[in-house]
Amino acid sequence: MKISRFGEKISGDAGILSLMDDLGNAMAEGNMIMMGGGNPGQIPAIQEVIREQLSELLHDEEALNRLVGVYDPPGGEKEFIAALAELLRREYDWDISPANICLTNGSQTAFFLLFNLFGGRYADGSQKKILLPMAPEYIGYADLGIDDDLFVAVRPRIECVGENLFKYRVDFSNITITDEIGAICVSRPTNPTGNVLTDDEIQGLAALAREHQIPLIVDSAYGVPFPNMIFTEARPIWNQDLVLTMSLSKFGLPAVRTGIVIAAEPVISMLSGMNAVVSLAPGSFGAMLTTPLLRSGEILRLSREVIKPYYQEKMERVMAVINEAFSGCPYKVHIPEGAMFLWFWFPDLPITSRELYERLKGRKVLVVAGDYFFPGLEPGWRHIDECIRVNYSQDEAEVHQGIRLIAEEIRTIYAEQG
Ligand SMILES: Cc1ncc(COP(=O)(O)O)c(C=O)c1O
Repeated sequence: MKISRFGEKISGDAGILSLMDDLGNAMAEGNMIMMGGGNPGQIPAIQEVIREQLSELLHDEEALNRLVGVYDPPGGEKEFIAALAELLRREYDWDISPANICLTNGSQTAFFLLFNLFGGRYADGSQKKILLPMAPEYIGYADLGIDDDLFVAVRPRIECVGENLFKYRVDFSNITITDEIGAICVSRPTNPTGNVLTDDEIQGLAALAREHQIPLIVDSAYGVPFPNMIFTEARPIWNQDLVLTMSLSKFGLPAVRTGIVIAAEPVISMLSGMNAVVSLAPGSFGAMLTTPLLRSGEILRLSREVIKPYYQEKMERVMAVINEAFSGCPYKVHIPEGAMFLWFWFPDLPITSRELYERLKGRKVLVVAGDYFFPGLEPGWRHIDECIRVNYSQDEAEVHQGIRLIAEEIRTIYAEQG
């Protein structure tokens, strides 16, 4: 069958597709320790709240009809949007109204719309890119461009902390914003590293964006105000120059597919129009389940008192296992400041990160090879082949066993080198 270039690109050999396929096939083989994918943990206290909300909806005939029987406007469920605007005004004093918010079917869809709104071919014939100011970045961005080569990425500065920890910093000296850049985008906390860009770094990027009259997109899928999977200090910021994206996925609702975009009114009205074209309207389910939690502010309390400690405590326990299992072996871990990932760096690793992935798969441990996370970066940096991403959100005994197996394999690999 003959298909378009766009069709080939989006349906065929996307990195994320081959990765998802491989993870799916490996899982089907059974007995795998799953530390590869992006599923959040299942937190009983959150599941209980969701069950209660769902039960309320089921017993309210009018609400049930709205839940399944009526299309929302293209910008999304109005009561959810009004409650969110009110919450953000109250909590953070943001100058925000419902006209600054729209919903999408998952924040992944928001990125598809935003990247192709600001990147790609413009009416004047110019071709613009999305700047990722600090690689590594979220693998899910990599294949979203309708046009090829949508991204340009910048290497970070690496700051080593003690023998086994490090932190990436935005290297402002390496960032040049030319006319070729249509928008800047960062995830905060960052998938895959668990890095949380400092307030100063965000302010610095916002200033650059303002100076060049392009938007700064801040992907807060793991961040503030919810689900607040941040173990360090980070101030929630938004203003008319920023496009802030959020999601209900890591709050515990990845299957309801609710993404949220907060931006200046013209951006929101364009996104609503795009929603209408590609899907008529975003789904109502996540919005209706969580509107009462927004109205009461409970979503913030649950994020702060349940979700954040759940991941932080898991992170602290897995770091203790790493210290013990890797002792005496060359390794570094990015300081885990948020999200649910550990980003390992094995300096001078004698094999590639894909080979390491395969060897670990052979030992029934699934991780993600690091080289996937550098879309738009010029080739030639060995570091990208020395890293892996490990998701620590799943069953703790299995995760700890997985870490011990990774440590054993790494020891063997360095020893084989002699
Ligand atoms: C950094 C980041 N942004 C966006 C997304 C997309 O999430 P969703 O489409 O479920 O909102 C993910 C998913 O894992 C992510 O890790």
